[in-house]
Amino acid sequence: MMRADRTPADTSSALRICGCEPHHAGELAQLHASLFEAPWDAANFKELLANPGTLAFAARSSAIGADKALLPWGLIVGRVAADEAEVLTLAVAREHQRLGVGARLVERLCRAVQKCGAHRLYLEVAEANKPARALYAGLGFQESGRRRGYYVRAGASREDAINMCLKLNGPAEAGTRLERRGLELDGLPAKRPRR
Ligand SMILES: CC(C)(COP(=O)(O)OP(=O)(O)OC[C@H]1O[C@@H](n2cnc3c(N)ncnc32)[C@H](O)[C@@H]1OP(=O)(O)O)[C@@H](O)C(=O)NCCC(=O)NCCS
Repeated sequence: MMRADRTPADTSSALRICGCEPHHAGELAQLHASLFEAPWDAANFKELLANPGTLAFAARSSAIGADKALLPWGLIVGRVAADEAEVLTLAVAREHQRLGVGARLVERLCRAVQKCGAHRLYLEVAEANKPARALYAGLGFQESGRRRGYYVRAGASREDAINMCLKLNGPAEAGTRLERRGLELDGLPAKRPRR
């Protein structure tokens, strides 16, 4: 189905967010490769997922009859150390973007790292990555610094990384932010349809 035929409300009802295990490494690598110039391969994912500090989730269709062999719609990988956590990667397949999948993955990771005792969630994002920066800002992340020339790409000039941080003040607040966006929380229907 084309993106224009759907709204976040009907997408979220057809979406489930599942934890990932090392045996999911292959499909995560395939999705990652479709979105990043320097993708992580299956061995990278396998190693990460085997690490006890890593938390990873995939967004999948829960529609009846959905083909289990299809790639996930999106993925997020994070890492917790003591009371801090970081987002290592986030990706949503092009055909499922702008439907609320990325926001739901970040929210799921927030809840998971909070359960592990994290009070802050950090990430780095390329300065020019407007979609990702808008997504994070909309979820309450604040810019906390900049790493000059952090990203090096073949044939392109270096790009700054923007550091962002979200204070994790409890599930209630994360939930409120998502409800304001009209997204589904914990299987409850969205409170309002897409704008
Ligand atoms: C960034 C990314 C994960 C966003 O995923 P997504 O599922 O499309 O995001 P959502 O639908 O949850 O969007 C949530 C909000 O983010 C912002 N946003 C997302 N995509 C946007 C875009 N292309 N342009 C402007 N704002 C955008 C909007 O504020 C949006 O809310 P709205 O739709 O109500 O306006 C996705 O574009 C992606 O995978 N990009 C390639 C990989 C990448 O850059 N990963 C992040 C690395 S730090």
